[in-house]
Amino acid sequence: MKKHFFPACLASILLAVLSSFVLAQGKPFTVAQTPPMGWNSWNKFACDVNEHLIRETADAMVSSGMKAAGYQYVNVDDCWQVSRDADGNIVADAQRFPSGMKALADYVHSKGLKFGLYTDAGRMTCQKRPGSYEHELQDAKTYAAWGVDYVKIDWCYAEGLDPEVQYAKLRDALKAAGHPIVFSICNWGVKAPWRWGGEMGNLWRTTGDISDNYNSMSVNGFSQNGLEKYAGPGHWNDPDMLEVGNGGMNRDEYHTHMALWAILAAPFLAGNDLRSMNAETRDMLTNADVIAVDQDAKGVQGHRIWQEGPLEIWARPLADGSYAVGLFNRGSGILKMTAPFSLIGMSGPLHVQELWEHKDLGAVSDAVSADVPEHGVAFVRVWK
Ligand code: GAL
Repeated sequence: MKKHFFPACLASILLAVLSSFVLAQGKPFTVAQTPPMGWNSWNKFACDVNEHLIRETADAMVSSGMKAAGYQYVNVDDCWQVSRDADGNIVADAQRFPSGMKALADYVHSKGLKFGLYTDAGRMTCQKRPGSYEHELQDAKTYAAWGVDYVKIDWCYAEGLDPEVQYAKLRDALKAAGHPIVFSICNWGVKAPWRWGGEMGNLWRTTGDISDNYNSMSVNGFSQNGLEKYAGPGHWNDPDMLEVGNGGMNRDEYHTHMALWAILAAPFLAGNDLRSMNAETRDMLTNADVIAVDQDAKGVQGHRIWQEGPLEIWARPLADGSYAVGLFNRGSGILKMTAPFSLIGMSGPLHVQELWEHKDLGAVSDAVSADVPEHGVAFVRVWK
């Protein structure tokens, strides 16, 4: 008996140590199995946020058909918070959010949607509101008490701090708070977050901030090639939120924005005013075929398969064996582009469907060809 005591005891201690190590390393919640879909206040409203806007946005998300199309999160970005109270609890702006964040979260939930907030891993947010540094657990518990389902955590005023250390602290705090939450790391690619972000959070920004123009959007989007191996269910690269409908790009450019983000398995976080968007914007944001590519269950991020100067072809393998293929013209004027099926390792005939207009192009023998508008895309799905 005695002989076996020590080894058995040792084994169970080892097991306990090992499993706590595995748990501490692993992410706490099974969320964001497909890239998050929702809305965020920053791109359109910056600091001009208040509870009326958020409530009306939640209403509009339902009435516009965005919710039915799959959009879920209503996320307040920077500027909702003003100070900390005597106990160090974060305090919301009482002028702009007089009912408080819990009531706002409840309202969003009452619409069948989810609620998100923003903070910063450093000492202050980018707009100089209190950051979560040294308040990690306290803030995580506050969010849990309010029912927050998504938190975006920025990286301003973090001089001398290591993102890998701070974001791990925040992950552990969110885990300890116990409320399932999507953890969005926003450190603009500092210290290559794709290399460690999957251990911490559900998505990580890979680039600087997007602006509502073709140059900014295309630099963010087309620079993602090579990062595909880091993405998968529960952990995504984030080239920043959508600008669709904000007016700085034309229809072809917004098509490129969404098609590229869908191929990249990037979050679809709309950044426009949902209360007043026109039919063209609504139809673009709610296009079921494009959303199906973004939300594909296989969760494989696509990549570039061909390039010639400003012409690029990208492809993403999908769960049913089909491929989403985007023929992008980053140059000027309309250009004819051809994507031979051999580029995706398939031989024809293949069925081809154009995704923006849901046009079935039938069986095609060996290549997809299209006249692609300046800054635009021909976006298709092909299958055997
Ligand atoms: C930036 C972030 C933006 C927005 C802004 C708020 O650092 O990348 O997406 O959150 O801060 O101040």
